[in-house]
Amino acid sequence: MSEFHKLQNELKENSSTWLVTGVAGFIGSHLLEQLLKLGQKVVGLDNFSTGNRNNLTLVQQAVSSEQWDGFEFLEGDIQEFSTCQQVVKNVDYVLHQAALGSVPRSLETPLITNASNITGFLNMLEASRQAKVKRFVYAASSSTYGDHPGLPKVEEAIGNPLSPYAVTKYVNELYASVFGKCYQVQSVGLRYFNVFGPRQDPNGAYAAVIPKWIGSLISGEQVYINGDGETSRDFCYVANAVQANLLAATQPIKTISPVYNVAVGDQTTLNQLFEKIKARLATYNNVMSEAKVAYQDFRDGDVRHSLADISKIGTQLGYHPEFRINQGLDQTVAWFWKSAT
Ligand SMILES: NC(=O)c1ccc[n+]([C@@H]2O[C@H](COP(=O)([O-])OP(=O)(O)OC[C@H]3O[C@@H](n4cnc5c(N)ncnc54)[C@H](O)[C@@H]3O)[C@@H](O)[C@H]2O)c1
Repeated sequence: MSEFHKLQNELKENSSTWLVTGVAGFIGSHLLEQLLKLGQKVVGLDNFSTGNRNNLTLVQQAVSSEQWDGFEFLEGDIQEFSTCQQVVKNVDYVLHQAALGSVPRSLETPLITNASNITGFLNMLEASRQAKVKRFVYAASSSTYGDHPGLPKVEEAIGNPLSPYAVTKYVNELYASVFGKCYQVQSVGLRYFNVFGPRQDPNGAYAAVIPKWIGSLISGEQVYINGDGETSRDFCYVANAVQANLLAATQPIKTISPVYNVAVGDQTTLNQLFEKIKARLATYNNVMSEAKVAYQDFRDGDVRHSLADISKIGTQLGYHPEFRINQGLDQTVAWFWKSAT
């Protein structure tokens, strides 16, 4: 039996209280759904800046009414320290997801990104220290590898950040490390690599590539690739990220503030990704098989290739991704198709 299956059985026997910040967002809402299904109590915080109430409604529909009763939601902002203090009271584990994602957003509005991602992060970390939570797990990012040329990416070898967003995520790791050294706060940073799945926002200028392309194809709009399409990513289905969070909160850690890659260890180019999405959509509507992609300029701040070495999280936390890209895309395309039709 995998560590994750063992853990799920243990959690079903013992209920703990978890705080999920960014709970109305994409990853946060999946954490909420899994925790409630395991009979856990969840406190959720969100300011709806990029998340939305409908994600919470969809979770409510996916769990039983008894499980939903285990959820308490507060609308609030992590930039307010008193709000952070309020939500962290009597919490065992913190899964801190609230932040403003997107490299292009951070290039356009660095101050706004900084306020949520650094000030907000520090507020949550300090409130968690004061409340003596058992562990503070936080969403770090593969963008921290910056201009380091090595592939696959190993946790110890990072380069210079290429965007304000990457700076904020690296600063999170530095603060977590210092809080470990100075105050013995146990934390785990999870460097997510291009997480995707149902409920990821397909709209707006800062949408991630997979929901954006699926949404565009379904509504008959042109799909654009930034660059020549040979840019590659290690796309990670959201259920794998959920597994990583639950293990990170509960498994023994060797150092006080480790960081881990969260990915699959598969490299997919954007050209390949487009073909995979198109093939899946064509099973619903054959017209999609005719869709063509258009190429435009490379985007500032983007790294060319990204591929994770996931051996550290595998060995130390027992993480094994249950979904590779094809299985994840099967689920995701099916979900978006069903939601749109
Ligand atoms: N999705 C990815 O591929 C990916 C990759 C690397 C890192 N991350 C990180 O994972 C986390 C979750 O990302 P996501 O993809 O679910 O994004 P998301 O935008 O769907 O979720 C973020 C949530 O945080 C909330 N939020 C933002 N600022 C807030 C604030 N100041 N106070 C309270 N709530 C706030 C938003 O309303 C939203 O619901 C983020 O920290 C992001 O930087 C995501």
